[in-house]
Amino acid sequence: MEQRIHSGQDATACLVEELARTDGAILLVSGNDTYTACGISETLEHAADGRDLLRFGDFSPNPQLEELQRLHEFVAQHGIEQFGAILAVGGGTAMDLGKLIKAFGTGPTPESETITGGAFAPWEIPLIAVPTTAGSGSESTQFAVVYTDQIKYSIEHPALRPEVCLLIPKVLVSLPESVAAESGLDALCQGIESYWSVGSTPESRELASRAVQLAFEYLAEFVLIRTKRACFAMSEAANFAGQAINLTKTTAPHAVSYPITAHFGVPHGHAVAFMVAAMFPFNEAVGDDDVLDARGVGYARDGIGEICAMLGCEDAAGARLEILNLIRRIGLAGHLRDFDIGAYELSVIVTEGFNPGRVNNNPRRLTHEALSEILHAELER
Ligand SMILES: [Fe+2]
Repeated sequence: MEQRIHSGQDATACLVEELARTDGAILLVSGNDTYTACGISETLEHAADGRDLLRFGDFSPNPQLEELQRLHEFVAQHGIEQFGAILAVGGGTAMDLGKLIKAFGTGPTPESETITGGAFAPWEIPLIAVPTTAGSGSESTQFAVVYTDQIKYSIEHPALRPEVCLLIPKVLVSLPESVAAESGLDALCQGIESYWSVGSTPESRELASRAVQLAFEYLAEFVLIRTKRACFAMSEAANFAGQAINLTKTTAPHAVSYPITAHFGVPHGHAVAFMVAAMFPFNEAVGDDDVLDARGVGYARDGIGEICAMLGCEDAAGARLEILNLIRRIGLAGHLRDFDIGAYELSVIVTEGFNPGRVNNNPRRLTHEALSEILHAELER
């Protein structure tokens, strides 16, 4: 399915047009705080043009199965047949819940087995996504996350991908600085990982390189000054990166970042950026015996060299420093010690950081020993 993407200030007018293509009530999935802070609630109400705009906003920062169940009940109570569109406005959780209700909406109340067993029951109405952060690019992916009993399930299905996304730069103006910083790093790093991924294609590399170049040029300006042009550039960068990873998925730094976030509370994009910096030299040193990219060592190394060039660096050692400098320049910590991670904690990360779907996507095979060496070297620097 081709996704319609509208970007820039005109995207607000496009919302009116997109809603006019549908009829019936609009299911608005948007958290209570986001809805008031994003500055487009009046626009949405105007765009609804008198149609029922039924908002579900009662959910926490990580999408829980119980919240999806409540949303499912909310839809049933209002009568599923009266809805003509789903509008998800917000960060990752609003996107995830919008996607999940679309993918499971017409089935019985979703239980954990529904999710783990992939019992999709797609609801054939358009999902319109309006991201209010510039980070994950979730508005353009067919992935979603849901937590049940503190276990995170990542699911993937074409029904999860929104039909339409609207990138409205002005919603980014009110984003807190720390959120802008860590989510913007996620966009940059998703672009980098997609580019060097073993599943990259000419199309995904084009998208990924646009993401990397835009995010690298504008992230600091976006976080520290929040100019209009930086908001626009970062909303595009995040979306390009989302489109790129929708084709390739992410790689080892994302896999290793998950336990750093889960156990030590380091926000996702921050943990990912740290791991991308740490793994740059490792990936650059890929050889015949450990290359995972079927196109060969030369191809993998050339790709990494091309990313270094995008970051204005000659080699991976330079790229590592450049990313760590950027992390610090936008006000975040750039050393493992700042996260209270020492030698003992590293063993937890090494044990848990091996999601095969991500690690096997890395250009160079990562072993537990190699990861341990990479992390200890970072600790001692
Ligand atoms: Fe990410």
